[in-house]
Amino acid sequence: MTEQGAGGIELVATAAFGVEAVVARELQQLGFSHQEVENGRVTFRSSPQGVCRANLWLRSADRVLLKMGEFSARTFEELFEGTRALPWPDWIPRQGAFPVRGKSVRSQLASVPACQAIVKKAIVEKMAQHYRQQWFAETGPVFPVEVALLKDRVTLTIDTSGPGLHKRGYRVRPTAAPLKETLAAAMVQLSRWRPERELVDPLCGSGTIPIEAALLGFNLAPGLRRRFVAENWPAVPEQLWRQERARAMDQAHLDRRLEVWGADADAAAIAAAQANAEAAGLGGRVRWRCQPVSRLASRGQFGWLVCNPPYGERMGEARAVEDLYRELGRVYRRLETWSCFVLTSHPGFERLFGRRADRRRKLYNGRLQCTLFQFFGPRPPGPRPRGE
Ligand SMILES: C[S@@+](CC[C@H](N)C(=O)[O-])C[C@H]1O[C@@H](n2cnc3c(N)ncnc32)[C@H](O)[C@@H]1O
Repeated sequence: MTEQGAGGIELVATAAFGVEAVVARELQQLGFSHQEVENGRVTFRSSPQGVCRANLWLRSADRVLLKMGEFSARTFEELFEGTRALPWPDWIPRQGAFPVRGKSVRSQLASVPACQAIVKKAIVEKMAQHYRQQWFAETGPVFPVEVALLKDRVTLTIDTSGPGLHKRGYRVRPTAAPLKETLAAAMVQLSRWRPERELVDPLCGSGTIPIEAALLGFNLAPGLRRRFVAENWPAVPEQLWRQERARAMDQAHLDRRLEVWGADADAAAIAAAQANAEAAGLGGRVRWRCQPVSRLASRGQFGWLVCNPPYGERMGEARAVEDLYRELGRVYRRLETWSCFVLTSHPGFERLFGRRADRRRKLYNGRLQCTLFQFFGPRPPGPRPRGE
């Protein structure tokens, strides 16, 4: 892909805590090399075309925001003046709607409704000067503005994604406790799975992990089947979206042979996984089996087992979950050459599974702090693949 260079705009990819480095690597692969990685966000330079590319391709990020500016403010006047100084009319047309939401953490300006009102007023004033009118009906495309204060530092952004990027558009049949698509994609990428290796999720529920692995394996852009709020913005012309979508379709490798499959003891979950895979354009390309984890077997060597079992948080679940973790450990011992990656919040997981993890990584499933337990299989014979 072409280098997105130190272009004229700054974008922010927001992400769950623990996933920032994965997002930074994805951005690098997409050609965005000027990045700053912080807690929960990666800021990068781009051109307007980058808005389309980042939204269509990012697998593990939550949203892509357009950064309008950053400044310090301890008074409402400073907030007003700092906001008014920014080039809002470059982005927001006369008919544009610009709802403002906000957050404030450890800042003098602690009242979020008051900050939102001031920002709204300052944008209206800037627009009034530019468009020479006092009243804005806001009936056109939407520009969701966010004012975020952190220790008296104000960051103003406009959301380019709309619904969060986890909404790929393929989850047509949800099941209980599904994993967020962005987190599943992050797990697969953290596992360093390569498409020539078999990958199985033996507790697949609605199929999120195998589906995200297959999208990655076929190099399918995860956003191809949905729309983004910036598709209606005059500053990101339709033609750029068309170009980036066409390019994304060209780059898919649907002719690859992938060995990706999911299994679950619950027939309804397997039916949902099948429907979801179909909706993701993967019908017939991911295999599904209705079976208990104890029946998991594969003749394949050096495969990947990636899963998100129940955590035993609900009343009455604890004993069944402990038995399941023991069973999972027994199954994994049979798969001698495989690697295994398990996401859970259960503190006794390694003891029940019967092996200490080679590596652990803290990840958040919603608000719940979890660990991705990583067990590495032996290295396959032959030359090391690049990047290992
Ligand atoms: C937390 S859910 C997985 C959610 C999944 N990652 C998703 O995104 O939808 C755990 C799944 O494990 C399945 N499960 C529980 N015990 C099982 C067992 N012994 N064998 C196979 N599946 C089991 C449940 O039916 C459930 O679908």
